[in-house]
Amino acid sequence: MPRSHFSPASYAGATSPGKHVALSRRRSSAKIRVPLATSRCHVTATLLDGKAVAKEIRDELGARVTNVLQRLGRPPALAIVLVGDDPASEVYVRNKLKTAEDAGMGVNLDRLPSSTPLSAVLGVVDRLNKDPKYDGILVQSPLPKSLGADAEQRVFDMIDPGKDVDGFSPVSAGRVSQNREGFAPCTPAGVIELLVRTKTPIEGKHAVVIGRSDIVGKPMAALLLHKNATVTICHSRTRDLPAMARTADILVAAIGRPAFVTPDFVKPGAVVVDVGINSVTKAEEAKRIFAGYPDRLQVFEKKGSVLVGDVHPDVAKTAGALTPVPGGVGPLTIAMLMANTVRAAELRLR
Ligand code: GUN
Repeated sequence: MPRSHFSPASYAGATSPGKHVALSRRRSSAKIRVPLATSRCHVTATLLDGKAVAKEIRDELGARVTNVLQRLGRPPALAIVLVGDDPASEVYVRNKLKTAEDAGMGVNLDRLPSSTPLSAVLGVVDRLNKDPKYDGILVQSPLPKSLGADAEQRVFDMIDPGKDVDGFSPVSAGRVSQNREGFAPCTPAGVIELLVRTKTPIEGKHAVVIGRSDIVGKPMAALLLHKNATVTICHSRTRDLPAMARTADILVAAIGRPAFVTPDFVKPGAVVVDVGINSVTKAEEAKRIFAGYPDRLQVFEKKGSVLVGDVHPDVAKTAGALTPVPGGVGPLTIAMLMANTVRAAELRLR
């Protein structure tokens, strides 16, 4: 059976990561599967605590960061490129910078105005590809619309696959598809880590992925397949989506539509992974989604917005296990970015 190359458990690190991870999994599983407490009764799902798993992954990186520092004379280092001033991207990038700094890693931000021509953005990527100070390169998505419809593809095409810690380049996508050593996109890689570390069985299960994006849906399906799940990808044109979703033992929602997956999509006891992070800013929508969840409505009243995943909160009454939003998949994405960057540095030492 081919073993998956896309989780820290299989990294060819300088220490003995297999043993290290096995120990940490044993330590963690009780702590990261906890009863889900919401303000509604009849909740059955256990919480898959992405925040706790993400911390575990980051903690495990400490020794590897030190090892790279000793052998390379500098810590693993990430170069981030942010073009324009998209407010959500500002928040994401700030979190990535802080997480890298807290992990003792090197990190640099190249900020470019939204008026920057695509040729100049490509020039920055070219410079970073050649710069030995950086092991990983991340160009924050989305790029400003003014750069053109194919700008992201052209930028991701240009990133050196050896530094593609986002896993967005076509070379990385091919490697993921063929289960070869490389960098998997951080969100689906994080979902696999969550399932593995919470001892959620994957092999032989029917996994349904709702969403077919290049950066989540497709690699998610490939990674689940490499863990020997039977995988179905659903999308906006799928006929009778709720019925198809109801056949899933593991249901991954990655469609970017707030509270889209309702209890009628979910087989009782299924594991539901919510990849969505949607900010609800309309009072009516918040009231509709969070009727019966006064604590969530209070958040809306206080902040004028509230986060909701692609999964409706009522799914907690049907699912066997569920990732919360916030605190589920989100923290894992950043932890996997750090893990990929450390591994990129280790690969240079081979
Ligand atoms: N925008 C939102 N999430 C991501 C991510 O994981 N990587 C990049 N490059 N851009 C993003």
